[in-house]
Amino acid sequence: MNRRQILKAGAAMTVLGWSSKLHAVGESGAEYKLDIKAGQAELLKAGGPKTPVWTYDGMVPGPLLRGKRGQRMRIAATNNLQQPTSVHWHGLRIVNAMDGVAGLTQEPIEPGQVFNYDFVPPDAGTYWYHSHNRGWEQVARGLYGPLIVDEDEPVDVDRDLVISADDWRLTEDGKLHEASFGNIGERAHGGRLGNVLTLNGKPYEYLKVMAGERVRLRLINTANARIMSFKVAGVAPWVVALDGQSIAPIKLGDSAVRLAPAQRADLVFDVKAAPGAELAITEVSGDEALVAGYLQVEEGGEVRERDGDEPPVLPAHNVPAPDLNKARIVELDMAGGAMGFVETAIYKGKTLDFRTLAREHGQVWTMNGTAGTALEPLFTAARGETIIVRMKNNTRWPHGMHVHGHHFIETARKPKTSFDFSIGAAVESKAAPYRDTVLMDAGEEVDIAFVADNPGSWLLHCHMMEHMAGGMVTWFEVRS
Ligand code: C2O
Ligand code: CU
Repeated sequence: MNRRQILKAGAAMTVLGWSSKLHAVGESGAEYKLDIKAGQAELLKAGGPKTPVWTYDGMVPGPLLRGKRGQRMRIAATNNLQQPTSVHWHGLRIVNAMDGVAGLTQEPIEPGQVFNYDFVPPDAGTYWYHSHNRGWEQVARGLYGPLIVDEDEPVDVDRDLVISADDWRLTEDGKLHEASFGNIGERAHGGRLGNVLTLNGKPYEYLKVMAGERVRLRLINTANARIMSFKVAGVAPWVVALDGQSIAPIKLGDSAVRLAPAQRADLVFDVKAAPGAELAITEVSGDEALVAGYLQVEEGGEVRERDGDEPPVLPAHNVPAPDLNKARIVELDMAGGAMGFVETAIYKGKTLDFRTLAREHGQVWTMNGTAGTALEPLFTAARGETIIVRMKNNTRWPHGMHVHGHHFIETARKPKTSFDFSIGAAVESKAAPYRDTVLMDAGEEVDIAFVADNPGSWLLHCHMMEHMAGGMVTWFEVRS
């Protein structure tokens, strides 16, 4: 048997390393109930103090929601918090009314109310969900979880693992540092950075793998603002997908995978270490590598034969390719923040000086001279029109820019840096990846191109939650 055939025969053997809630993906698709409520988590150390958090179903991260490409997903979200909320399905190119943006695509879900999300994900891959109301507070308190859309046919791996990485700001007794929520200084700088790193809500995450297995590891950066870089010791990964969409596999070598807040990367690697080995998962963006967890190698069961170093192939994505010859260019001038120079800006239709903006409205960033969601859209596209957004980061800070409802390719970057694809090394890729979030460094100009084919009103914002709250958010319209 060749690999393909083994894949078909072995499909039933696929082990899911992260159990999802009991549900059925049948004719009628996947159905879930999400209970949004206060809870507790041991974030500081296992067996240590319990941190009061906000949760989906009592856990941080929320439960793994799993659907299948092209099949309906229904999620009944009940708000049992004392604050309005909403749930955004990050990266899913779904109908506008289900995008979960409070104040744009829906009214917030008031305490005690239920919102029935109902959509069909058009793309397989690694996604996530999170609050889209007061995200700077609600996401920091724990309102996020992983969402996986499975391919039509199972991918040829033996184990499928998910890691949601987050940095929490905790006091010494393990409480969330609440006094700093909404801090204006942090809004104007790099956002709210935490002091405790968790993988899947645990200070050290131990994930079981078997010697000889081929593993798909899905990494999600769920932090409010921290750009993180991950390495797994003792393996030679391929990057096979970014922000959910499959790419021509990139051999990672010794490089780390850099993820801006909200970005995802799917790695595939073979476990060649002997049983008993512990392969460290490290976060390497700082001066010292932080060990965040381990892959624990256990005695294998049945090991499938592999064709040497051949990378795994995911099905091709189905994002429409932009027609760059016919594209309309929309300029987006990003300004403000600490060490930025903005004297006045428009806020809710009025021109205000920067002091008033900061002190009275918490607004410190601008896009095309406007702070916060503008009254008019950045552009209105005919359905199917190719748009290039030329984003000029005239600030002293990096930003992770996210487009709702669409995936885009990066078509130009000035000056050219190694931020490409967010992998911290010069990498060669045969085709530009389709992403939903792109990291840009201070002073950079980045063109992103996409076919505006999803009717409705969509946000375009910095995913550093404090930057969005501080004004770095705009929106566009696609006509039906
Ligand atoms: Cu992940 Cu506007 O959000
Ligand atoms: Cu930003």
